[in-house]
Amino acid sequence: MTTPQEPNLPDYRDLPADVAARMKVIKERELVLEIDHLGKVFGGRKNPTVALEDIEFGVHKREFICVVGPSGCGKSTLVRILAGLEEGTSGRILVDGRPVTGPGPDRGMVFQKYTLFPWLTVCQNVMFGIEMSGTEKGEAQRQAMQWLQMIGLEQFAEAWPHQLSGGMQQRVAIARALAAQPRVLLMDEPFSALDAQTRLRMQNYLMEIWRKVDITIVFITHDLDEAIYLADRILVLQPRPGRVEEVIEVPLSRPRRAAQMTAGEFLATKAHLEALIRSSGPNADDSADEDVELDIPLLTLVSDKAE
Ligand SMILES: Nc1ncnc2c1ncn2[C@@H]1O[C@H](COP(=O)(O)OP(=O)(O)OP(=O)(O)O)[C@@H](O)[C@H]1O
Ligand SMILES: [Mg+2]
Repeated sequence: MTTPQEPNLPDYRDLPADVAARMKVIKERELVLEIDHLGKVFGGRKNPTVALEDIEFGVHKREFICVVGPSGCGKSTLVRILAGLEEGTSGRILVDGRPVTGPGPDRGMVFQKYTLFPWLTVCQNVMFGIEMSGTEKGEAQRQAMQWLQMIGLEQFAEAWPHQLSGGMQQRVAIARALAAQPRVLLMDEPFSALDAQTRLRMQNYLMEIWRKVDITIVFITHDLDEAIYLADRILVLQPRPGRVEEVIEVPLSRPRRAAQMTAGEFLATKAHLEALIRSSGPNADDSADEDVELDIPLLTLVSDKAE
């Protein structure tokens, strides 16, 4: 779908030369993750919900993909199927050319809710994923400490998860997922419970880690600023059924800096995404512009005579 461009903003499809060159390099890389005509229907024949329909998409090695779309469009369903926690009803998922049949060490997952094991220390949490792959305890501990150093939490190795802030817990969750050396890191709104400042710090942390390690990222978010700030490409889903609406190549140079959020390219991409999501959101059909009558009890209204 095309949307009118905002006056004075560049066309979001015009990639600066360095971004176009980077995109070309990315596309020449092998596909780590292939989503092949994926469909998902929930419920029985009587009352089916088509959550995803014919999703076709490939993620290249070391690419950073964000997935956005209105609430209920199937983002979490998609990522759960990629993780092997849920099965598609049609089509298939391939990681390095091999079909996914369930969860596996080639895919790490970070959820919105803090999911560290409360009965394990921070270090033991990170060791968990490493030991799962058969590494002996001493070596697992050494590697876990390296990860904690990378995320700047080595002094919290012996702390319990509840002693950490939300942002710190998510850093440990990322380290735990990466320590098992997956090919793909799947993240479902991992920062949405954090305050704005912590969130920006976490986004920068994640990009810094991504720059240092060989990992491909699929990151689900509601937040358009977050998607544009992080992604190489943004997959926009439309709801009912969840289909690919558009794939956007983000016209921003790397490394990303918060100052880019006011650049014309950023604002143009955001205006386009907002228009896309508005046009396909839950109120898109007809009711969006209508006045909504709220049933507010009289007592809660502020009277003109009030001081
Ligand atoms: N286990 C389930 N059983 C039945 N329907 C489900 C199930 N899980 C999801 N759905 C339906 O599938 C659709 C997609 O849900 P999903 O949670 O993937 O959306 P989402 O894009 O992640 O939404 P949000 O942005 O609110 O997190 C919705 O209509 C939802 O009601
Ligand atoms: Mg969701």
